[in-house]
Amino acid sequence: VSVLDRALQPITVGHLDLPHRLVVPVHGGGAGSFTQSEQRFEDLAEFWLRRLDDGFVWLGGPTGNVRYWSIPGFEPTGIGALGKRDGIFRHPEYPRRMSELVSRVHAKSGYLGVQLVNQGGMPNAPSATFSGYADHRGVHVLSDDEIRWYVEEYVESAVIAADCGVDSVELHANHDDLIEWFLSGLTNRRRDGWGGDFTRRTRFLREIVDGIRSRVSRPLTLGLRLAMDQLIDGGYHIDECIRIVKSFEVDGTVDYVSLDVGGNWGPVTYLATGVYAEAQWAQWSGQVRAETDLPVLYVGRVSTPETAERVVAEGSADLVGVVRAVMADTAWLTKARENRPQDIRPCITLNECIHRYTLEGLGFGCGVNPALGAPSSGESGGTQSRRLLVIGAGPAGLELAGLAAELGHEVSVWEERTYLGGRFAVAARARCNPGYARWIDWQGRRLESLGVDVTLGRRARVGDVLAAGVDVVACATGSRTRRPDVVGAYGSHVVSGDAVLLGTAEVGQRVMVVAEDDGPAPLSVADHLAGLGHDVTLAYRTPGPAPLVGKYSIGAMLARLDADGVEILTSARLTGIGATEVEFANSYSDRRYTRSGIDTVVLVTGGVGEDTLYRQLTGLHPQVHLLGDAFAPRRVTFATKQAYTLAHAL
Ligand SMILES: Cc1cc2nc3c(=O)[nH]c(=O)nc-3n(C[C@H](O)[C@H](O)[C@H](O)COP(=O)(O)OP(=O)(O)OC[C@H]3O[C@@H](n4cnc5c(N)ncnc54)[C@H](O)[C@@H]3O)c2cc1C
Ligand SMILES: Cc1cc2nc3c(=O)[nH]c(=O)nc-3n(C[C@H](O)[C@H](O)[C@H](O)COP(=O)(O)O)c2cc1C
Repeated sequence: VSVLDRALQPITVGHLDLPHRLVVPVHGGGAGSFTQSEQRFEDLAEFWLRRLDDGFVWLGGPTGNVRYWSIPGFEPTGIGALGKRDGIFRHPEYPRRMSELVSRVHAKSGYLGVQLVNQGGMPNAPSATFSGYADHRGVHVLSDDEIRWYVEEYVESAVIAADCGVDSVELHANHDDLIEWFLSGLTNRRRDGWGGDFTRRTRFLREIVDGIRSRVSRPLTLGLRLAMDQLIDGGYHIDECIRIVKSFEVDGTVDYVSLDVGGNWGPVTYLATGVYAEAQWAQWSGQVRAETDLPVLYVGRVSTPETAERVVAEGSADLVGVVRAVMADTAWLTKARENRPQDIRPCITLNECIHRYTLEGLGFGCGVNPALGAPSSGESGGTQSRRLLVIGAGPAGLELAGLAAELGHEVSVWEERTYLGGRFAVAARARCNPGYARWIDWQGRRLESLGVDVTLGRRARVGDVLAAGVDVVACATGSRTRRPDVVGAYGSHVVSGDAVLLGTAEVGQRVMVVAEDDGPAPLSVADHLAGLGHDVTLAYRTPGPAPLVGKYSIGAMLARLDADGVEILTSARLTGIGATEVEFANSYSDRRYTRSGIDTVVLVTGGVGEDTLYRQLTGLHPQVHLLGDAFAPRRVTFATKQAYTLAHAL
């Protein structure tokens, strides 16, 4: 039985004759740009053309920021700003580059779309309201003339794209976009011709659609991207979404709808994490589909071919979009069609694809697939095959061993533990991370199929390493848990988060989780304990929880913690641990206080790089490397990126 069957049936959308129903919807952040250097444009083209090589036919295309209106001198900020004040369509290079990309896509028998985006206000809005609970930037309320300017700008942008030969144009009427702000009663409180009732709230979108239809003659496939439910107080729900879809269907102006849920930064974001089920909201798109004859595209946490097939087979959608999963494995569709889904490098929703650059200003990339977004002219070593010994089989060691073997090197791995995955395998035991083990298992299968010699339960010592006589040694030895330097830190009722997840710690009913780690670990440990029925308090030294867990991921965790009664303390610096009490000082005022009635203190207090072996070997072996948490304890993306670069430099 083929994993894909119904999803491979042909379908027509507008004037697009599609041989199957799997689509790569629009996304930005891709490894390239329309408006920067020629090399960046080539990177962008390569990124999208690869999807065609994998067998996708309809590409949503890169984010199409529409120029936005503001008074000169104002510095736009926010998710949609990213320095693109003039948008992409008005850039002098856009017509040439877009035409070039379209012709390359057509040469591979693909269809290319463009999306018109004006996300997050920056600062323009229909009304002086907030669109979510986690962004309180003030807005400029658009005047009638300014709204008309926008309608014209959207239409003109579509005309420019259509003149370049794009096959489809999609209006981004969700994800906190200006169009959504007009559609929704939450953000549109106007009482003029642009707001007040359904007809006037949809007018902005309708004028853009009508303008495009009157300026661009068919064939041009035109679609709307809509939230099925905004999932926010005062926002609209599925009934309103259906009403919007039907009103454009009646007009005959729109050819398809692309549907997902949620706003930017609630508990459910449009980059939903693995705490949610695969395609969790597909039932809703089924409801929309039952009410319209327009083709319905469902998008949202489809990461396996099995899920894509199910969504189509159960009638929830006509087409299915896959974004993060095809970043994690650029041969996703090929492997699915060859009926070997187990070979797909799984997306485990680390959300590095969005947070690396929105949160930390790092380059675009993927936590589990470090090749994504890597510079096309990366470092590369010799062509000679080297004998490589990798010490440690955490994310860094696994990725290095796999890639080095694929590049033709002779690789062996020594791992002290009896299992693969290192500390990430510990993280994988948390109830909020059910998907993490999939990636570790995949790495294990990868090494096995490459014939990498993996020895578990073997601790590397200097003498043995030197005796192994390899050309290169890589210490991917990870980190050990860090104990804070306070009185009581070694008490018998003080345990590490790792021990809690491994099930080796005895934990009492009332637990204080001490967080001195800005990433996901403290949230995961607290959530896990709450799931086991403990009364949990989670204490952060920072003014808010988890500063390095981005807005697209944190809401889901905070929702769960709150639902399970976890109390969160902030600006709470641990100063001492007693028999049943924990001492804190406010991180800023230094006010001292005590929390009593604590049975167990759980430390999730970061790691200390395990670099002893590396230091011992340096000088004794000609080529020793240090990578991952052993170099500096961070996250998987740091470990895998280093592994990628090192493998190519061998
Ligand atoms: C609870 C928790 C949750 C986390 N959640 C996330 C998350 O959601 N996202 C994220 O990106 N990161 C997360 N992390 C961090 C992530 O796990 C680490 O950044 C990652 O594991 C580092 O990979 P690594 O390979 O460098 O080191 P490790 O994973 O620590 O692996 C090192 C390996 O080396 C082995 N080793 C050490 N010395 C020797 C020796 N002498 N001989 C043989 N073997 C040796 C160890 O046994 C270990 O298996 C989490 C961490 C924890 C603890
Ligand atoms: C890096 C990145 C950028 C994105 N940019 C856009 C965008 O510009 N417009 C849009 O409508 N959706 C955008 N998305 C959302 C995706 O189209 C898709 O809805 C989302 O990734 C969920 O699908 P998935 O679970 O298959 O990843 C983006 C997603 C990612 C990961």
